[in-house]
Amino acid sequence: MAKTWLITGTSTGFGNYLARYLAQQDDVNLVATARHTEDLDYLDQYDHGQILKLALDVTNDDQIKDVVAKTVDKFGTIDVLDNNAGLGYFSTFEEADDHDARYMFDVNVWGLIHMTQAVLPVMRKQKSGLVISLSSVAGLVGVPSLSMYNGTKFAVEGMMEAMAQEVAEDGIKVMLVEPSAFRTDWSGRSSNKKETAFPDDYKLFVKTLQATEAGEGKEPGDPKKAAEIIYDQVENHYDELPTHLPLGAAAAEGGEQQFTSLAADMKKYSDLAKSADFPN
Ligand SMILES: NC(=O)c1ccc[n+]([C@@H]2O[C@H](COP(=O)([O-])OP(=O)(O)OC[C@H]3O[C@@H](n4cnc5c(N)ncnc54)[C@H](OP(=O)(O)O)[C@@H]3O)[C@@H](O)[C@H]2O)c1
Repeated sequence: MAKTWLITGTSTGFGNYLARYLAQQDDVNLVATARHTEDLDYLDQYDHGQILKLALDVTNDDQIKDVVAKTVDKFGTIDVLDNNAGLGYFSTFEEADDHDARYMFDVNVWGLIHMTQAVLPVMRKQKSGLVISLSSVAGLVGVPSLSMYNGTKFAVEGMMEAMAQEVAEDGIKVMLVEPSAFRTDWSGRSSNKKETAFPDDYKLFVKTLQATEAGEGKEPGDPKKAAEIIYDQVENHYDELPTHLPLGAAAAEGGEQQFTSLAADMKKYSDLAKSADFPN
């Protein structure tokens, strides 16, 4: 039976490549969403009645409800929710603009929360479903210049890990996708960048931002391959889906380094940590 996929943010980038790929599969019903529906015209060439194109800004709760209702109305189920929509923000921690940082949290965190909360009742009723959330290697490792973005993606990691345990008994799975730098619009138009007023004090930040700008359009990650890997995991490895799926060499290496170093700290301070408990 065809699986119904619902994806947020399919105008460009990961969401766009995944939507294109899914649209070419026979066994997929696709609900592709974007803030502006004209951005979904690229799907018309593939549509044989199994594609629904809907307007969705994930900060708009009425649109979220509408998308979930229309999906169930047309296809009867939601088998895979792909929480993909997201943006970035570059600044020093000290100088982060409140409005920009809060808006990013509204999209990357609250949008994802509300979307997932709207879909879970459908999946619970089905006793099946998969929630994919686009996190990042920046959801595992702190990156200078991206502290606010780190905040959003670490939040996604923690929430999804906790939720995964809660919904497992209802047959619902969770997969966090953790890419390193991929060639999408993310570091360009989707990320506001705030220059520092104190370049002499924030040399690492200045260097990191320059490197990011110089690397735009040359990121090593191929979002088309990411789409194929995500589909393959869901289609052919559903029973052993990873909770954490790194994508890109820097994601795999960065994640491993982080957890090796964390594990070493946990071991080193294990006796000290235990000494803080009441005696039995
Ligand atoms: N590319 C990377 O290096 C990288 C690495 C790790 C994680 N990620 C994550 O991957 C996800 C997808 O980003 P991308 O790399 O594909 O970048 P992208 O090409 O810029 O795509 C971002 C998508 O999110 C949509 N979006 C932004 N705000 C939205 C809102 N309020 N409601 C609904 N959709 C909204 C954009 O729509 P509009 O066209 O309307 O703006 C666009 O479709 C994000 O969560 C990002 O954090 C990216």
